[in-house]
Amino acid sequence: MKIACIGAGYVGGPTMAMVALKCPDIEVVVVDINAARIKAWQTDDLPIYEPGLLDVVKQARGRNLYFSTDTHKHVGEADLVFVSVNTPTKTRGIGAGSAADLTYWEGAARMIAACSTSSKIIVEKSTVPVKTAEAISKVLRRNCNVPEVQFEILSNPEFLAEGTAIQDLYNPDRVLIGGNEDESGQRAIQVLKSVYEHWVPSERIITTNLWSAELSKLTANAFLAQRISSINAISALCEVTGADVTQVAHAIGTDTRIGPKFLNASVGFGGSCFQKDILNLCYVCETHGVPKVADYWRSVVSMNDWQKARFVERMVGSMFNTVVGKKIAIFGFAFKKDTGDTRETPAIDVVHGLIREGANCTIYDPQVSETQMFHDLSLAKFQWDYPMSPTKADAKIKQSVDVHFDPYTVAKDAHAIAILTEWDEFKTYDYQKIYDNMVKPAFIFDGRNIMDTEELRRIGFVSFSIGKPLDPFVKKS
Ligand code: UDX
Ligand code: UDX
Repeated sequence: MKIACIGAGYVGGPTMAMVALKCPDIEVVVVDINAARIKAWQTDDLPIYEPGLLDVVKQARGRNLYFSTDTHKHVGEADLVFVSVNTPTKTRGIGAGSAADLTYWEGAARMIAACSTSSKIIVEKSTVPVKTAEAISKVLRRNCNVPEVQFEILSNPEFLAEGTAIQDLYNPDRVLIGGNEDESGQRAIQVLKSVYEHWVPSERIITTNLWSAELSKLTANAFLAQRISSINAISALCEVTGADVTQVAHAIGTDTRIGPKFLNASVGFGGSCFQKDILNLCYVCETHGVPKVADYWRSVVSMNDWQKARFVERMVGSMFNTVVGKKIAIFGFAFKKDTGDTRETPAIDVVHGLIREGANCTIYDPQVSETQMFHDLSLAKFQWDYPMSPTKADAKIKQSVDVHFDPYTVAKDAHAIAILTEWDEFKTYDYQKIYDNMVKPAFIFDGRNIMDTEELRRIGFVSFSIGKPLDPFVKKS
């Protein structure tokens, strides 16, 4: 069997590396229009940072795992074609700001049709709006000139989380495969199931119809994000009442019906999926005549926006209502620890908010490059998922932002530190040394609740943690 995967990104790359590792009898080729990305996959300097990924790639690369830009050849030869191209939020036209832009997906389908001389199973890996398979199937059928070629479409959404992708792929909670309910759809499901059965126990492979699989992916992300917005909403209430959100999360999380995961209050959720998928879900609801359902889910995103804005307001308010000309040290720019990914990271909104107030931000992140930070801070909303987005750094951003690869330099002469990613190394620094080199009063705003607040206060910091009883020095509202 031969597999081709279109899209060598965060989803396509690691997923195919794991398939190749676990299925030595299958040839797996990952293709991409981005030649630089493909080249990087062929070296030990992979285009994405993911713990354990290099090891998996190295075991399979050259054996049965290949990376190539020769899309036509490899897609043409494949029996199974995974499509893992980006499905960004539309930036213009109907549904701008919430609908998914399926341009790349449709382009991929046309290309598959054009180069197919044998029948294929097409697997949707990208998160797509419900009913995409129907549209894609029409494009495929009408654009292939070889009459005996048949296409069967499956939805096989990926649930891996960045930072733990390899673990999630090794040992998934479940694999979901949706397909047509007719005989050929069921046969296709069995073919894909047999690939996963190389390492995933059969009982963890769930099969459904196509629409249920497509909708389950959006729903899973909406539910996960909703938990974070719920605990973040409670964090605001904790700050004004004197309750401690960590204690509340623990108390409710021990109820087995609620469970302990995804209850960490934070400066807000980020990443390429949560906001995009919820907005996408809302758009689907609106276009299918259930606007009340859209309103319900949209509130998860607006709570997240409010949490980020609230964090900036708390900082400015506590620092005597002005940060004009003040140096603020930003610890962490990635949207979560153990990844270099910055898509929709809350750091973008927080830095923008501080700059609007006149602050100068100096940023350190162990995995994010200066170029990436300036690129992200200079982009308009929703442009980040377009491969051809402009990369020129905005002049105002250049003026107000500095980047250093040393946290002590970043914090030197700063009025405040804002912790925006939960990197483990942030907990190990010499905070006495950092405090001694800062302007007094020295503030720490912990947007991830990773610091020992008592210890920081003992050193002399004025410290704020999300959803915790307030330092008397911190402004109450
Ligand atoms: C992407 C989507 O963002 C996500 O919604 C979906 O669930 C899975 O696919 P990710 O892998 O994180 O997730 O995206 P990205 O890292 O941007 O990778 C997509 C790749 O597809 C890029 O390398 C891009 O160059 C490539 N691509 C895009 C193509 O090869 N052909 C195209 O026509 C468009
Ligand atoms: C998510 C889903 O978890 C995954 O199943 C899906 O395939 C893609 O989207 P990812 O975005 O990689 O994965 O990371 P995730 O661990 O879900 O974190 C998303 C955001 O929520 C991060 O910014 C994280 O810091 C934040 N978060 C997470 C919290 O603020 N609190 C929590 O308790 C958990």
